[in-house]
Amino acid sequence: MIKAFETERELGFTAASTLAKQLIQNEKSVIALPTGATPLPMYEALLELIRFGIVDVESAVFFNLDEYIGISPEDPMAYAFYMNKNLFSHVPKVFHRIPKADTDSPEQEAMMYENEIRKAGGFDLCFLGIGVDGHIGFNEPGTPFDSKTHVSDLDPSTVERNSKEFGRKVPKSAITVGLKTIMRSKHIILMATGEEKSAILKEALTGRVDPAVPASILQLHSNLTVLVDQKAGAGLQDQRQ
Ligand code: GLP
Repeated sequence: MIKAFETERELGFTAASTLAKQLIQNEKSVIALPTGATPLPMYEALLELIRFGIVDVESAVFFNLDEYIGISPEDPMAYAFYMNKNLFSHVPKVFHRIPKADTDSPEQEAMMYENEIRKAGGFDLCFLGIGVDGHIGFNEPGTPFDSKTHVSDLDPSTVERNSKEFGRKVPKSAITVGLKTIMRSKHIILMATGEEKSAILKEALTGRVDPAVPASILQLHSNLTVLVDQKAGAGLQDQRQ
């Protein structure tokens, strides 16, 4: 299902409401969270729903999708920092895992992370953004569709783009939840905003299912919701509801 919105704010509210509905139905739900600019309106809206007492996140289990390798969680480039700043420092204590990427053994951390997700029962609801090269999490083009949580070498274009807001280069590798782990989620919500996502979104959702476009695997998910603004959804008019 594809839903298009006039503004990023409306999109964020719908995403946050979907999370609220999930938690109202099952307060112990396991939720996968993304980073980047796209989900910021969702986190803002979620904080409002929490403040108003509409949703309670205390019993939920949150896993982030990815983290850069080799920087501390306090580094402003770290996704741990981002999550703390935009969500977790504003809510009562919750169970939240993000890959520990300031480790000597990222491969081992990736394996442990996968095991923790499995032990938690997998994701009930997984939120995703999309990179301009079609990555989801940090599953870059060419990542096998059957990948579990692993160490990913980032595409130079991803490093370039993600570095822009920091004035210094983000790390060249990351730990990311794999495509198979994502695809096992009971419900996936893919969010995309802005003109720069329009072409890749169209390719991912209507083109060939091919590891060259990691997000194309989402076409094979039985419960996928795509939330777009007018610009990102420009190429998808026929598919929208
Ligand atoms: C990063 C993250 C992805 C995110 C993507 C898009 O590389 N690892 O999880 O979806 O970029 O980011 P943005 O929303 O800023 O366009």
